[in-house]
Amino acid sequence: MSRTWDVAIVGAGYVGLPLAETFADAGRKVLIVDVVPELVDAINRGESHIEDVPSALLAPHVTAGHITATTDYAQLKEADAILVALPTPLTKQREPDLSYVEAAARSIGEVLQPGQLVVLESTTYPGTTREVVKPLLEAGSGLEAGRDFHLAMSPERVDPGRTDWTTKTTPKVVGGLTPACTAAAAAVYRGAIDTVHELSAPESAELTKLLENIYRSVNIALVNELAQLCDRMGIDVWEVVEAAATKPFGFQSFQPGPGLGGHCIPLDPYYLSWKAREYDFSARFIELAGEVNNNMPYFCRSVISQALNHGLKKSVSGSRILILGVAYKADIGDVRETPAEKLVALLRTAGADVAYHDPHVPEFDGMASVPLQPEAYDCVAIVTAHSAIDYADLVRRAKVVVDFRNATRGHEVDGKVWKL
Ligand SMILES: NC(=O)c1ccc[n+]([C@@H]2O[C@H](COP(=O)([O-])OP(=O)(O)OC[C@H]3O[C@@H](n4cnc5c(N)ncnc54)[C@H](O)[C@@H]3O)[C@@H](O)[C@H]2O)c1
Repeated sequence: MSRTWDVAIVGAGYVGLPLAETFADAGRKVLIVDVVPELVDAINRGESHIEDVPSALLAPHVTAGHITATTDYAQLKEADAILVALPTPLTKQREPDLSYVEAAARSIGEVLQPGQLVVLESTTYPGTTREVVKPLLEAGSGLEAGRDFHLAMSPERVDPGRTDWTTKTTPKVVGGLTPACTAAAAAVYRGAIDTVHELSAPESAELTKLLENIYRSVNIALVNELAQLCDRMGIDVWEVVEAAATKPFGFQSFQPGPGLGGHCIPLDPYYLSWKAREYDFSARFIELAGEVNNNMPYFCRSVISQALNHGLKKSVSGSRILILGVAYKADIGDVRETPAEKLVALLRTAGADVAYHDPHVPEFDGMASVPLQPEAYDCVAIVTAHSAIDYADLVRRAKVVVDFRNATRGHEVDGKVWKL
């Protein structure tokens, strides 16, 4: 095909922007469509808001005309392939919220051209592409999927902050509505991504992504439950997990922690348990893992309470507590679904005076990150272990440290450092 843009990406977020950069790196011309004008303007100035895509890498692509952003869906007419990377959150009732995807599918339907390819990249339940996206595209365009245009699903697997596996090097799974749709989508991705794995249907692609995230959620729940048992038995859970990981086969290591965080693992599994109900099926592992993981901030509050009680003979009420790290994982600034939010709320309700320090998050929950002065607090709770922190120095200066990440490993001091 010979339209102006090789690829258009709808949604310039954690998924969309690295994807745009990956295609531009491969010499493709990329159009980005986003509904936030300020974001579009910033991208067109070469300024990135996503840590994984430094402005220094984005700007040359913008200058060379290989990445251009717009709020105007009509420009999609000039793209060969349209990749949709929009949020798929949950409603307050923890049910799939496809409103972003549906809105975009309606807008794309109005401008869709014969011969174009549309790929859904958002994480979602099996059936979304066929049952939700396809009818909206067809209704808006008057075209038929699989005959007049190609439609496929290819879930994004990027892990923000990770450098060993990137959008380019992480294999891409692709399932199209028809074999020709799969082939068309696979061909586009092969132009920029090292490995493409073809599937027989969009439902397989949708479920592949959910399996990956449910696998993580269930295994994290397993070690979180073990951590709570170890607390009662006086066994160091970190030592046990590390020891089990020395087995060269049959065991994959997962770390306990203060709870799940991020856009994916805490939310995605519920997409499947919701869909399963349509088939009179109860996805029990998903619900149980959610229960255990959601309970972790409550358990962490009790560990802090015990540490203050035994370490300083103080109650949570009236204590000054510093939360160290509020991002949902180390070395990034993403606070979506972070367990820190729940823990802060629980500690405040219990009467604590809570502050936080996070080198990656300047503002959080109505607070500004304070300078790291451990001696000024009754207790420092390590919720996220950013690598820029000197944990030996922290232990030296703090009165009591509660470590939910094993960041103080090797610097433990009896009666001062309390671990999950
Ligand atoms: N963040 C991750 O680590 C990650 C990893 C793998 C998969 N995913 C999945 O990828 C999808 C996208 O997630 P994300 O983290 O990139 O989201 P995000 O919130 O970072 O970005 C979404 C972007 O879409 C824009 N947008 C919203 N509505 C729009 C519309 N109608 N038209 C055009 N743009 C619109 C927003 O302004 C925003 O810039 C989700 O389904 C998510 O589950 C995310």
